[in-house]
Amino acid sequence: MNPLWLATRATGEISLVLFTVVTIMGIATTKGWASSRWPESVVTLLHRNISLLSVVFLGVHIGTTVIDGYVPIGWLDVVIPFQTTYKTLWVGLGTIAFDLMLAVIITSLVRRRIPQTLWKGVHWTSYLMWAVAVVHGLGVGTDQLLTRVLAAAMTALVLGAVVARFLTPHRQDDPVVSVTTRTEIRR
Ligand code: HEM
Repeated sequence: MNPLWLATRATGEISLVLFTVVTIMGIATTKGWASSRWPESVVTLLHRNISLLSVVFLGVHIGTTVIDGYVPIGWLDVVIPFQTTYKTLWVGLGTIAFDLMLAVIITSLVRRRIPQTLWKGVHWTSYLMWAVAVVHGLGVGTDQLLTRVLAAAMTALVLGAVVARFLTPHRQDDPVVSVTTRTEIRR
């Protein structure tokens, strides 16, 4: 099998797993879930760093897809959805997930310079991004058994975290303020 295409598949699944972890870590950060072993600062740091790692894997996923040339997917298809003739709907959903991810990353990088409501609104689309990415993987994945098993496991994890998020009481302070910012405010 073509190594580039194999890399596309492997990094697609790895990206999905990492995005799932990032989503759960994000919920944990928001809710202040922590323990002596996993203090809030560690959870926040993990959320940030694993999200960067997932971007690296996604970059390889997209890069190998285009460079491989095995299917007609070009660089424009990476950002403009539904243009490719190859599995137009399913690949287009991957593009939408990527565009949403770009929006989440860019607004997070300039978070201190934009209104918090804007940052929060865009950050909420992470759930949509994750769900769209799951459907993309299910629709386009070659190994349907692996894709389905992984998608089911990731969905169970995120749904569990979302349910726990809404069942646990809200914190006293603003849940969207990061640990670092909160420390600065207290000072
Ligand atoms: C957040 C964004 C994305 C995630 C999480 C993601 C994830 C995945 C997953 C899980 C698979 C299934 C791999 C398998 O076969 O087992 C996959 C396949 C694929 N993805 Fe993505 N993807 C994303 C974005 C994109 C984008 C933007 C493109 C290209 C424009 C793309 C192109 C492909 C292609 C061509 C396949 C088929 C590989 C195969 O035949 O197995 N993906 N992706």
